[in-house]
Amino acid sequence: MPTRTPARPSAVVTLTAVLGLGLGLGLAGCSSSDGKPELKVDGAFMPQPVNDAMASGFLTVHNSGGEADRLTSVTSAISDEVTIHASENQRMREVRGFDVPADGELDLERGGNHIMFTQLKQQLKQGEKVTVELRFEKSGPLTVELPVKEPTYNPQS
Ligand code: CU
Repeated sequence: MPTRTPARPSAVVTLTAVLGLGLGLGLAGCSSSDGKPELKVDGAFMPQPVNDAMASGFLTVHNSGGEADRLTSVTSAISDEVTIHASENQRMREVRGFDVPADGELDLERGGNHIMFTQLKQQLKQGEKVTVELRFEKSGPLTVELPVKEPTYNPQS
């Protein structure tokens, strides 16, 4: 009979490798942040709004720290009405916050959860930038620039 490598030990080896990699990156990324959320934002953008009534914003918040945090609000000079929305089954509703898990990330992406701007104070065009301030339960606020992209822009597709 031919010998086959049992599935179990190889799965264990893979998992160990992944855990080892994650730990290595964590140590390299932040040395003095044990137990605290360590937040970083990337992939931010706003699809060019159709009109000045409504716009949405997307980004990813990475947490390389050992404690979870929570996005609680967003503000911007372009609108007095900035809210955070969850999307389920093509419908959206305002939520009080989004968790940013320890050693994890919060993804706001097209078709899903997003930042919602209503009653824009100016018409936004592709190539411009919108500055927002993200506020969190534990970490200090983060200022993020959202480049305005074409209306159909989607980094996932
Ligand atoms: Cu919305």
